[in-house]
Amino acid sequence: EKGGYDHFMLKEIFEQPSVIKDTYRGRLLADQGIVRLGGLENYIEKFTNADRIIIVACGTSWHAGLVAEYIFEDLVRIPVEVEYASEFRYRNPIISEKDVVIAISQSGETADTLAAIKLAKSKGAFVYGVCNVVGSTISRETHTGTYTHAGPEIGVASTKAFTTQITVLTMMALRLAKAKGTISQSDFMLYLRALELIPNQVEEALKTDDKITEISAVFKDARNFLYLGRGYNFPVALEGALKLKEISYIHAEGYPAAEMKHGPIALIDEQMPVVVIAIKSDHYDKVVSNIQEIKARKGKIIAVVSKGDTVVKEMADYVMEVPHTTEALTPLLTTIPLQLLSYHIAVMLGRNVDQPRNLAKSVTVE
Ligand code: F6R
Repeated sequence: EKGGYDHFMLKEIFEQPSVIKDTYRGRLLADQGIVRLGGLENYIEKFTNADRIIIVACGTSWHAGLVAEYIFEDLVRIPVEVEYASEFRYRNPIISEKDVVIAISQSGETADTLAAIKLAKSKGAFVYGVCNVVGSTISRETHTGTYTHAGPEIGVASTKAFTTQITVLTMMALRLAKAKGTISQSDFMLYLRALELIPNQVEEALKTDDKITEISAVFKDARNFLYLGRGYNFPVALEGALKLKEISYIHAEGYPAAEMKHGPIALIDEQMPVVVIAIKSDHYDKVVSNIQEIKARKGKIIAVVSKGDTVVKEMADYVMEVPHTTEALTPLLTTIPLQLLSYHIAVMLGRNVDQPRNLAKSVTVE
């Protein structure tokens, strides 16, 4: 049932090329310039007329929500707030029928997310679900929505659910940007084509597995890790850190790279591995200077770089390469080496990768 893999988590990491394709199949028709989501078509105006989009989720799904915040604001030009469902529901939030809520949940059973949905509905908001489990409670409690087609996710640490959530949210943003007229036809086509290429590029990123295994052996005994990223890759830094802590039990923190100097830089010494997402993007030069700051304090740099990069390669102690894509889609690629890094470190430490201590696959308690 693990399909020849040692763990479900590894199997699920390697399934990502096919499940991302399953998630956009029949919905993304790049050649024809069409992106179409059944659950969205009748509700486009709910979104385009909305004052605000509020995304509610927990854990890894919340990280997918953060990625969506960047892409929705970038392409659709609607203000987005991303809320931990557990905070939102207890906060007496300001919410009305002019708001659209997107609830993201792999299991569709997370108690806090469900309670946030019920609260939003009681205030008259329209609620859209992005779930993986067909017929789950959240998929039934939302007004409409789109399923991710990740297939069953058995490993407690979420991997393929995350990248398929981002795939759905990206398609939603593209469809809505088109409807709202906030994207040019040429950019729209560029995104559609770029998204279509992602499965093959994930496949390519997975080929660095051996290299990542070597890097994992070097750092497996570290007590702490920092993960840094900017822009679209700030949420990826958070997700990389979460993955490491939940399955290896190594303390890890994710930060926006520019926040370093406001505190976390004090942690850096020769013992501290710093994973930096330093792909070619609008933030590249800024990230390069963040790397210099870390190096000056003797931190060890493990960088996720774009294929063919030379500048960061010179500076970093180790690099993990990913193919090039348009910036908004980079989280789908940069996530891959971070999943593998946490997996291999956890395996080397003898952890129960698929069922880490204290964690359950679906959190139905509040
Ligand atoms: C992390 C992880 C959890 C879940 C969170 C939400 O790897 O799996 O953080 O992402 O419990 O679960 P869902 O998406 O089922 O609502």
